[in-house]
Amino acid sequence: MNILNEMKVEFLSKSSNESFARITASAFIAQLDPNIEEMSDVKTAVSEAVTNAIIHGYKNAVGVVTMMIRIFEDRCVEITILDKGAGIADVDEARTPLFTTCDGEERSGMGFTVMETFMDQVEVFSALSEGTKVVMRKTFAKGN
Ligand SMILES: Nc1ncnc2c1ncn2[C@@H]1O[C@H](COP(=O)(O)OP(=O)(O)OP(=O)(O)O)[C@@H](O)[C@H]1O
Ligand SMILES: [Mg+2]
Repeated sequence: MNILNEMKVEFLSKSSNESFARITASAFIAQLDPNIEEMSDVKTAVSEAVTNAIIHGYKNAVGVVTMMIRIFEDRCVEITILDKGAGIADVDEARTPLFTTCDGEERSGMGFTVMETFMDQVEVFSALSEGTKVVMRKTFAKGN
């Protein structure tokens, strides 16, 4: 399938950049004229993936998070979020609903489940001490 457009941004792993990533992604996909639900699904999924890169990937350290978005001719949007942080020991376990490595009330272990719910496909590539790459795809409905 032919690529119609592509972008890449890099930003520091600061929690204030979670909204930057979300807004940047929605600005880029706006060219597809998505409906409200598609727009909100993508923002939610980007939020979860970027929050994971910041909180789990880099923990308290500062590193670089990369977001790439490609738009294909068939209205498929492919969003890649990657970090060069801690990595995930067992990806299947990490993707299990309610699994979290964080104690306390703030994390519910539902991030990957949310990404899977709101996107058509979610792939996770990760290696300990090397980092994590999350590739999410969603095909938008035909324009009205
Ligand atoms: N980028 C990442 N780098 C390292 N570990 C990660 C990364 N993303 C996810 N993980 C691991 O996978 C687990 C599950 O992630 P998930 O987003 O589903 O839940 P959570 O972040 O713990 O909680 P929630 O997203 O509900 O706040 C995390 O607790 C963490 O151990
Ligand atoms: Mg999470």
